[in-house]
Amino acid sequence: MKKIVLLSGVIGFSVMCFAFMPDGKKAWDAPVAAASKANPQKGAESISNGKALYAKHCQSCHGKTGLGDGTKASELKTEPGDFSKAKFHAQSDGALFYKISEGRDDMPSFKKKMPEANDIWDVVNFVRTMKK
Ligand code: HEC
Repeated sequence: MKKIVLLSGVIGFSVMCFAFMPDGKKAWDAPVAAASKANPQKGAESISNGKALYAKHCQSCHGKTGLGDGTKASELKTEPGDFSKAKFHAQSDGALFYKISEGRDDMPSFKKKMPEANDIWDVVNFVRTMKK
């Protein structure tokens, strides 16, 4: 019995890894606690502040409409992702907040550059408008 449980655990885990990396990209998942954090910001004012911050801090890599085609995109070792895709938007606001705060590889950490947490939430709200 123990063996079966262990085996199905191993198989389950492998299937999960595969599902998250269909194109061989390193999966990047926010920790559960961070991903379940609620977004305290909403409304037009939040989006317009997020838009200004995005133009200043994010557009050079992620591109004006989030397609990953910014002027610096060709220098990146990792794919910056595509913010127009449903798959990207399947993540929670908390997960996006975590990734923007912490960064990974070529993606900078923004918790020092945007010390007001609400600014990061505003950027999350703006990025949500890029869904096609
Ligand atoms: C220097 C280039 C660069 C800048 C500037 C940059 N990013 Fe990124 N970003 C990346 C790269 C590269 C990745 C992919 C990182 C990885 O997968 O390891 C990424 C990943 C992300 C992700 C996760 C994508 C996914 O598919 O889950 C989010 C969200 C994100 N960036 C938002 C932002 C926001 C918002 C800003 C501005 C505050 C920003 N980035 C600024 C390069 C950049």
